[in-house]
Amino acid sequence: MTRKIFFVLNGISVHVETDPARRALDVLREDMGLTGTKEGCGRGECGGCSILVDGEVKLSCIMTAAQLEGKDIVTIEGVCGEGDLHPVQRSFIERGAVQCGFCTPGMVISSVAFLNANPSPAREEIREALSGNLCRCTGYQKIVDAVEDAAKKMHGGGRDG
Ligand code: FES
Ligand code: FES
Repeated sequence: MTRKIFFVLNGISVHVETDPARRALDVLREDMGLTGTKEGCGRGECGGCSILVDGEVKLSCIMTAAQLEGKDIVTIEGVCGEGDLHPVQRSFIERGAVQCGFCTPGMVISSVAFLNANPSPAREEIREALSGNLCRCTGYQKIVDAVEDAAKKMHGGGRDG
């Protein structure tokens, strides 16, 4: 059985008519065409499917479509301002924090939420904040560098140690 589910997606009010038990990840990728949100493990362990739900990071592979109802959803397609990349995205590019790129949308989503809550993080805090996002390629060093750099771009923040 299907029903209409209303939510805000990247700043625009939308609705889908779907089985409320479907995965939110599939609604976003298949129904809304937003394929930036990735499926890695499909069981809540890799962070590839991270989205913002009312400003908090959630894993869309373990969310149902019903849980989108009434929420403010931001995917990687919606983090940038009009015509420009988000500072986190720019820093990931400038610091060479992207290799295959599969983990990058989830990493960026988690980093944006983290830096909104913690404008001046220590490196250890960045590592901790991104510990739920797995990357097979980079060894994480350049990702942490990028988030530190983004903190400076966004807030003049970031500190040693
Ligand atoms: S695909 Fe959702 S956590 Fe891995
Ligand atoms: S850049 Fe390839 S998985 Fe992170």
